[in-house]
Amino acid sequence: MEITVAPNLDGFSGDLLVLPVFADRTWGPGAAEAAAQLGGWLDGYLDGLEFSGKVGETAAVPGANGFGRVLFVGLGDEVDADALRRAGGIAGRAAMRDQKVASTMGEIDIEGAIGAFAYGFLLGQYRFDKYLSEPKPSSTVELILTGADEVGEVAHAESVAAGVAMARDLINEPAGGKKPEVLAGIAADMCNELGIDITVYDRDQIVEQGFGGLLAVSLGASNPPRMVVMEYRPEGAEKTLALIGKGIVFDSGGLSIKPASAMETMKTDMSGAAAVLGAVRAIATLGLRVNVTAITPLTENMTGGAAQRPGDVFTARNGKTVEVLNTDAEGRLVLADGLSLAAESEPDLMVDIATLTGAAQVALGMKVAALFGSDDDTAELVIAAARRVGEKVWRLPLEQEYRSKLDSPLADIKNIGDRYAGAITAALFLAEFTNGRPWVHLDIAGPARAEGDEGYVAKGGTGFSVATLVAVAEDMAQ
Ligand code: BES
Ligand code: ZN
Ligand code: ZN
Repeated sequence: MEITVAPNLDGFSGDLLVLPVFADRTWGPGAAEAAAQLGGWLDGYLDGLEFSGKVGETAAVPGANGFGRVLFVGLGDEVDADALRRAGGIAGRAAMRDQKVASTMGEIDIEGAIGAFAYGFLLGQYRFDKYLSEPKPSSTVELILTGADEVGEVAHAESVAAGVAMARDLINEPAGGKKPEVLAGIAADMCNELGIDITVYDRDQIVEQGFGGLLAVSLGASNPPRMVVMEYRPEGAEKTLALIGKGIVFDSGGLSIKPASAMETMKTDMSGAAAVLGAVRAIATLGLRVNVTAITPLTENMTGGAAQRPGDVFTARNGKTVEVLNTDAEGRLVLADGLSLAAESEPDLMVDIATLTGAAQVALGMKVAALFGSDDDTAELVIAAARRVGEKVWRLPLEQEYRSKLDSPLADIKNIGDRYAGAITAALFLAEFTNGRPWVHLDIAGPARAEGDEGYVAKGGTGFSVATLVAVAEDMAQ
């Protein structure tokens, strides 16, 4: 899709014109003119449709001003960047079959309006249809946005949206199509394209390097694991951000096997790794001046004859021994190695992203991620970035009083606590591998996947946290 910015719609025509309407049918920029062109019948028509301009409401009417159709999109009475991203998503989905679309939404008087709408529109048109036998209906080829784009907001939106779309594609791909070596290959292709250094450790090298958690989880799988380490080193960067993404390409639970229904969505258990890849793509495309070390341990969690058994002990990269009492608590085992490795080079900030616990879903539902921070300032940095991009996170405590739940009689630590505070005990486990460095843990078990289309999110993998990670990188860049 080609996005063009123009001062006004003079001389433009197209298939669809998207116009903003605030609460109580207060016309936004461009809407009054279009309504006037359409004639007095429009108000009565919209009355009949009960269209008042509430958030998310839409009404399509026959065209005016050289446009085939006009789509009014309700914005309610409190418009912020997130409302515009959502409106963009709704418009994008409604415009799926319109080749040439224009909108005045970017003229709304809030900072970043044009970029927010473009971001939503691009992601609203996201579809994962590579496995459909029917040819896909066409999507928008040209989007004309009126307004001013002084700081390259539209290009920024395009870069971040491309990162999100990449993450969604990877998450939506069935597990059989994204074996660890395949995913590592996709990462290598991306790094080669963008000039990023990449090291891929195969199974033997995983043994040599002491990635004991990744190896332990991989034992039950026929497809071998991979540890991927990407190093983006732009000129002029001073700070280093380490990103560590859980990359379980399928989580059967291992010998502590999941019930069939719980396994249905477990191809998405690499959403953390997908978010890291999408964020690296966006950060490198934008040329942000911050070093990024991105680490994705990749494996299936399966039940083969060589699988780790409940009660087995392994040694993680940092030398700590772990008693594995539940093989379904595997994300923390591969992240133990990823965090240990990241901490070795003493980055300014480490952020891990993982679909880690059902408990995070129970605590915060499907729209809000659980966030843990090593200290208040570090947590606040990521919370502020998330707020800016409209991704919902809520901080939970790294409550040291619960640390003893992880005491093992046999090893340095065990991998599960009791039935309470499951998201917190998982985070406390991870903390053991951070070597006391500034660190944030995002448990995205809820928002990594959407149950249905909503705003700029489509059913399936959401790409949640790509935008937040890019925003964090921006804050750390020169
Ligand atoms: N991948 C799951 C967590 C999950 C559950 C993500 C539902 C998305 C949706 C993780 O590996 C897991 O199975 N965690 C266990 C931990 C338990 C055994 C301590 C869980 O949450 O039940
Ligand atoms: Zn699991
Ligand atoms: Zn898992």
